[in-house]
Amino acid sequence: MHYPWWYVPYVTAPMLIAVISVVHVLVSHYAVGGGLFLAVETGKAYRSGDREYLAYLKRHGRFFILLTVVFGAITGVGIWWTIGLASPLATEVLIRTFVFGWAIEWVFFFVEITAAFVFYYYWGRLAEKTHVAIGWIYAMAAWISLVLITGITAFMLNPGDWRPGDSFWKAFLNPQFIPQTIARTGGALLLSSLYVYLHASLTIRDGRLRDLIEQRSARPALLGAALVTAGGLSWYGFLPELAQAVLVRAAALNVFMGLIFALTAAVFVLLYLGPYRNPGWLSPGFALALFLFGIAVFSIGEFVREAVRKPYIIYNVVLGNQVLPGDVFGSEAVPGLQKTGYLEGGIWTREYVKQHYPGALDGDRIDEKRLLALPHSDRIALGEVLFQYHCNDCHAIHQGYSAVGPLIRGRSPAMIRAVIDDLHGAHFFMPPWAGTPEEAELITNYLAEIAPPRPEGMFPLPAVQEAP
Ligand code: HEC
Repeated sequence: MHYPWWYVPYVTAPMLIAVISVVHVLVSHYAVGGGLFLAVETGKAYRSGDREYLAYLKRHGRFFILLTVVFGAITGVGIWWTIGLASPLATEVLIRTFVFGWAIEWVFFFVEITAAFVFYYYWGRLAEKTHVAIGWIYAMAAWISLVLITGITAFMLNPGDWRPGDSFWKAFLNPQFIPQTIARTGGALLLSSLYVYLHASLTIRDGRLRDLIEQRSARPALLGAALVTAGGLSWYGFLPELAQAVLVRAAALNVFMGLIFALTAAVFVLLYLGPYRNPGWLSPGFALALFLFGIAVFSIGEFVREAVRKPYIIYNVVLGNQVLPGDVFGSEAVPGLQKTGYLEGGIWTREYVKQHYPGALDGDRIDEKRLLALPHSDRIALGEVLFQYHCNDCHAIHQGYSAVGPLIRGRSPAMIRAVIDDLHGAHFFMPPWAGTPEEAELITNYLAEIAPPRPEGMFPLPAVQEAP
C-alpha cells in the first residue's frame, strides 16, 4: 500500500504473476528431473558402451541446457519483477523471513548452472566417472533448489502458527512443506519423462534407441505420477480450513480439481499401456498427447494452488490487497486503517491526495468529512484510487479477470455499499474493508458510476413501495 499501484488491464497484476509462474514451473520441473535423467542415463550408456545412446544424450543435453537455463532464468527473473511490483508488502515479508533461504538457493543455483555447463561442454573430455559425477552434482543441486523454493512457496499457503518475528526454520518447515515437496519431486520426474519422450520421438529415427528410451523413462514417469497424486492429496489435507472452504465453494475450482484427477489418471493409463507395456507406441503424436496432458495437469494444478490462498497472499500474515490483518504493524493493518483511513495510511496515497486534492486536507492530514464535500468527479476519482488499491488484486474493472462491473451489474448504490461495509461477510474470499465509512462512500460512488445497468429483458423488479 506504500507504493504506486501497478495496473494491468483485464488480467490484473496477480494473474500476470500466475501466468509467468506457471510457464516457469513447466520448465523448472524439467530442469530438476531432466538433470536426474541425464545423470542416470549417461552412467548407464557408459556402462553398456552404447555409443548411439550417448550421442543422443549429448543432443538432449544441448536442448536441455538451452531450454532450462535461458527460458528458466528469464521466467524466474520475471517472477521477481512481477511480485515486487504487484505485491511489494508480501515480497518484503518473504525477503525478511527467508533471506538466507534465498542466499542458499542462489548458491545451489550457481553450482547447478556451473555443473550443467561443465557436463555439456566438457563432454568426451572428462573421464567417464567424473562426467557422470558432474551430472549427479547438477541433479542434486537442482533438487535442493526445488526443496528450498518449495519451502518458501508452501509457507505462503500455510505458515502454520508462525508469526512475524518467529524463526526461519519455523517458517520453512511449515505444514505444506512436505506435501508440496513430494508433489514437486514427482512432478519433476513425470514432466521430465514427458519432455524426453517428446524430444526423442521427434528426433530419433532408430527404432531400437527409441524403444530403449521409452522403456527407461517409463518407471520414473509412473513413479512421478504416483508421487504427484500422493503429494496432491496431502496438500489438500494440510490446507488451512479457510482454503479448503474456498476450494469447496468455488465452482470453477471444483471443475478444475475434477480435471486434474481425470487428466492424471489418463496420463497414468497412457504411460502404463504405452511406454511401460508396449514400447514402440511412441509416435510423435502419442508423445505430444502425453506432453500436453501433463502440461495441462501442471498448469491447472498451479492455478488451483494459487487460487485457494484467498483472501490472503501469505496466509494469516498478508491479505490479498497488500495490508496486514492484525495490528502487529500498526497503521499497515486493517484496524489501524479503519481508524486513520486507507488514503491517510499509505505513503503513496497520502501524497497523491495532498497533491491532487488539497481541498480534502485539514492542515497536514486528510479530513474524512472534507473528502465527502469534494466535487462529484473528484469523489469518483478517489473512489477509483481506493478500488485500485483495495480490490484490483482480485478484480479487473469493466471486463477481464473476475471483473467487478459484471459482479455489480444492476445493483443499487445501497446494495453496493452493503457489500463494501461487510466485504468479508459478503464473501469469505475477500479481505475486510480497510478504510473509514467515508472512504466506503467514495468507492461506492465510483462503483455505482461504473456498474452496468440490469440486462434488458430480465424479469422486471417489483415496484418499490413508497413509504407513506
Ligand atoms: C483477495 C481477493 C479479493 C479482494 C481483494 C476483493 N475481492 Fe471481491 N470477490 C473476490 C472473489 C473471489 C469473489 C467471488 C467472485 C465470484 O463469485 O465470481 C468476490 C466477489 C465480489 C463481489 C460479488 C459479491 C456478491 O455479493 O455477489 C463484489 C461486489 C466484490 N467482490 C467487490 C469487491 C470490492 C469492491 C473489493 C474492494 C473493496 C473487493 N471485491 C476485493 C475476491 C476479492
